[in-house]
Amino acid sequence: MAEISRQHWAARRYAETAHFVPTLGAPVLELLAPRPGEHILDLGCGDGVLTEKIAEGGAVVVAVDAAPDMVAAARARGLDARVAAGQDLDFAGVFDAVFSNAALHWMRPPETVLARIFKALKPGGRLVAEMGGQNNTAAIMVALRAVVGRRGLDAGRLSPWYFPSAEAYRDKLEAAGFMVDEIGIMPRPTPLAAGLEAWLDTFADDFFGPLPSADRMAARREVVELLRPVLTDERGVWVADYVRLRFRAFRPS
Ligand code: BEZ
Repeated sequence: MAEISRQHWAARRYAETAHFVPTLGAPVLELLAPRPGEHILDLGCGDGVLTEKIAEGGAVVVAVDAAPDMVAAARARGLDARVAAGQDLDFAGVFDAVFSNAALHWMRPPETVLARIFKALKPGGRLVAEMGGQNNTAAIMVALRAVVGRRGLDAGRLSPWYFPSAEAYRDKLEAAGFMVDEIGIMPRPTPLAAGLEAWLDTFADDFFGPLPSADRMAARREVVELLRPVLTDERGVWVADYVRLRFRAFRPS
């Protein structure tokens, strides 16, 4: 059964606090190397900033995202964007490539998502993606664990995220039928221009939502103060401990 995050996605807030997500997606776009006329699915398109770049090169792009507000923002760019979760993709053999940036770690169980992607691809088609990998945002996870743990909650159970190692994900890709061409993990310290509080507001509803509303601000403040000595540089700039898993895999012809 699909495990759905309780994150509330607001396109305007996302654009203000998480604009680094599509900006830093350039390497995975390069790995995709879209060609004119190719049919490409952008899975977890967000507000469509990267989808637009794929389409600029002449590919025919369908964009999907589970969040209606993000899909509305992508449509406002003139894109063919539709509301759909990765677990519910309903395409068969129609895409030359499936692309995904910073989205697959929100889609669980991964086996279901990979099976749907595999089915959506034409034989010979490729899946090119980047997502959070093992140890992604590890310090943030530890602080969330500590703060919700003090309140009797288990952050491991609340977490909507899946951050696999390259080896574990290769196994999942192969079990789904893919041939893995390349896969690797890379740390990518990521400056948060809007700060950690804004990041938590944008991405961490699953941890704070179950707390009594009167306690949420205090809990968020505790997370921030635990992390300040670890995740700010000497100028006071927040730098999140992102780790990326990037890969290209094929549906055999
Ligand atoms: C990520 O892109 O790695 C990420 C984004 C939001 C929450 C957790 C991880």
